[in-house]
Amino acid sequence: MGKPRVLSGVQPTGTLHLGNYLGAIRNWVDDQHDSDNFFCVVDLHAVTVPHDPTMLAENTRAIAALYLACGIDLSCSTIFVQSQISAHAELAWLLNCVTPLNWLERMIQFKEKAVKQGENVSVGLLDYPVLMAADILLYDADRVPVGEDQKQHLELTRDIALRVNHQFGAGDSLGKGGEGDSILKVPDPAIRKAGARVMSLTDGANKMSKSDPSEMSRIEILDSPDQIKKKIKRCKTDPVRGLEFDNPERPECNNLLGLYQVLSNQTKEAVATECAHMGWGQFKPLLTAAAIATLEPIQHKYQDILNDPGYLDTMLKDGQTKANEVAQATLNRVKTAMGFSLPAA
Ligand code: ADP
Ligand code: TRP
Repeated sequence: MGKPRVLSGVQPTGTLHLGNYLGAIRNWVDDQHDSDNFFCVVDLHAVTVPHDPTMLAENTRAIAALYLACGIDLSCSTIFVQSQISAHAELAWLLNCVTPLNWLERMIQFKEKAVKQGENVSVGLLDYPVLMAADILLYDADRVPVGEDQKQHLELTRDIALRVNHQFGAGDSLGKGGEGDSILKVPDPAIRKAGARVMSLTDGANKMSKSDPSEMSRIEILDSPDQIKKKIKRCKTDPVRGLEFDNPERPECNNLLGLYQVLSNQTKEAVATECAHMGWGQFKPLLTAAAIATLEPIQHKYQDILNDPGYLDTMLKDGQTKANEVAQATLNRVKTAMGFSLPAA
């Protein structure tokens, strides 16, 4: 049996922050050598909310470069741009036609984002999870490493795959995953505990997000040491002395200790002991140093990649070729099962 297939992606809606890195990309990097990986820049998702067309292509390239800078290894991973593989949009349409509308209306992220859009909610925003299901199912992914916020979308992906298999499957020709797994592979989420939900620096009850209007709420991967220092210095804390995990009345404390734990590569127990008697004045410089030490090498590598645009172009072209081959085969499988006639080979 071959290595398990992994697929994941990030939207090019702005630059990456520590939540994206710790919740998703770091896990892609750590586990990549045990699997066959496809990492996608999901630019079709980025247009589900109003976007700036002059920035889309640039942001897409920047995210692809950041994947590399964070340590994605092209010997076992393929990096590609979603909109360059037409099978994503095409499979999304087919899946739309088997997905009940009320499955989408239940999605928490849709409800949250729709509130922010007011009157201007697009059909695309509602349909976003079906496109995400297409992204995953096209690659026969076994695992999808994401942050906690994507759990519901992955459950929906599984439900859609099972429904297609149930409605159009003829047996178990793929041989995996038990009954009804004949057309689409049913994927498993891969959500790690530490870093799965990094909270905002200005409000421990909200997740760190690209779309938060305040830059002070997040540390971006490309922030300079001075910016990181300033953001941590000003971040929200509490007046209690002695730092602890898991106290529901101290969400900021839990978040900042959790960040320190993953950034300094320590166990939760070691951090709990180290910080048990600290005040914020003593802790903040430690967190700052750990964040800078993690991000500086990524930033240097990012600059090297940007200085050689030909390299990025070639990588994305190769990625497109490899991804297209896998995606097209799956799309053809679904189209055949649904009764479409394919053009003669
Ligand atoms: P954002 O929510 O900031 O726009 P994306 O939706 O593009 O980011 O998310 C890309 C990946 O990063 C997903 O796997 C998502 O689960 C993860 N992620 C996003 N925000 C966080 C966070 N605050 N903590 C942990 N993981 C996160
Ligand atoms: N919806 C994901 C997010 O907001 C991004 C995404 C789109 C994705 N397609 C995907 C993640 C496929 C994993 C796999 O973070």
